Amino acid sequence: MPGRVCIVGSINMDLVVRTPAFPAPGETLAGGPFQTFPGGKGANQAVAAARMGAGVSIVGRVGADVYGNELRAVLAREGVNLAALRTTAGESTGVGLITVDESTGENTIVTVGGANQHLVADDIRSISGFIRSADVLLMQLEVSLDAVAAAADIAHLSNRMVVLNAAPACGLPDSFLNAIDVLIANENEAVQLAGAPEKTHADDLAQALLARGPRAVLITLGAKGAVVADAAGFEVIPSVTVDAIDTVGAGDAFCGSVAAMLSEGKSLHDAVRIGCVAGALASTRHGAIPSLPTREAVGRLLTKSELPLPNPALKSS
Ligand code: RIB
Repeated sequence: MPGRVCIVGSINMDLVVRTPAFPAPGETLAGGPFQTFPGGKGANQAVAAARMGAGVSIVGRVGADVYGNELRAVLAREGVNLAALRTTAGESTGVGLITVDESTGENTIVTVGGANQHLVADDIRSISGFIRSADVLLMQLEVSLDAVAAAADIAHLSNRMVVLNAAPACGLPDSFLNAIDVLIANENEAVQLAGAPEKTHADDLAQALLARGPRAVLITLGAKGAVVADAAGFEVIPSVTVDAIDTVGAGDAFCGSVAAMLSEGKSLHDAVRIGCVAGALASTRHGAIPSLPTREAVGRLLTKSELPLPNPALKSS
């Protein structure tokens, strides 16, 4: 059975330029082409979950401007429920300023929060029914900590699964982490969250983060897959090999797919295997939302790969 995922998060228009390399401080580089893509970690993860078959609602804010209208239209076309998406008058829609290194597909991102910053705990309390009626609440940290903490409390008290993608990383109180069932971070974010030295081994990072309260920790390792850590132990789930051209949205494809799979009752390990394939596929196309794979595309790549997950596991019924 398809599950229900409620997303609390950001909605941005991404302004993207491809460059031959990342510019050094003080350097001017010519790049191109310049493109705009719908994005924002919240919107990306909402579409990723919807394309994997989940029923998705999004809680967030856009501005009363052209980008806001366009992003609403994109999310509606993807079947995302917009009843809890508010418009903030007098504020611009969030923007992501992105460079993609065309030699590696890696990216740098600067966000301008705009309307996303106006999502507050009162907004969350006014739409609590969306959180209570979902199987999984999925959040990131591009909206205020007050808002995500309020959402986590509501979901936790209603026995809903709470998944936090701690991106971008910031200081998080243990009281908040206690309400999290699955904490997802990449290695840089995990280092910051754990207050650990750079290059700390992912297993040690996972151990340090588990000790702060979440029931499970997932550390994404890019092309190498992801570490799954919980009370039962640690395991590295491998990814598939692809030709990456643009990694923007790959982490969001992972998070949205993991949430969609958990919402329909798959095990954490199976959800992560599927999430790794979705993330890999997203890195083979340009842009955030345009790069997110469908359930069928993930199923096809799983079939071709040697990953130990029978394809029928992808069926939603
Ligand atoms: O994770 C990628 C996203 O981060 C981009 O779409 C950008 O808008 C920022 O939110």
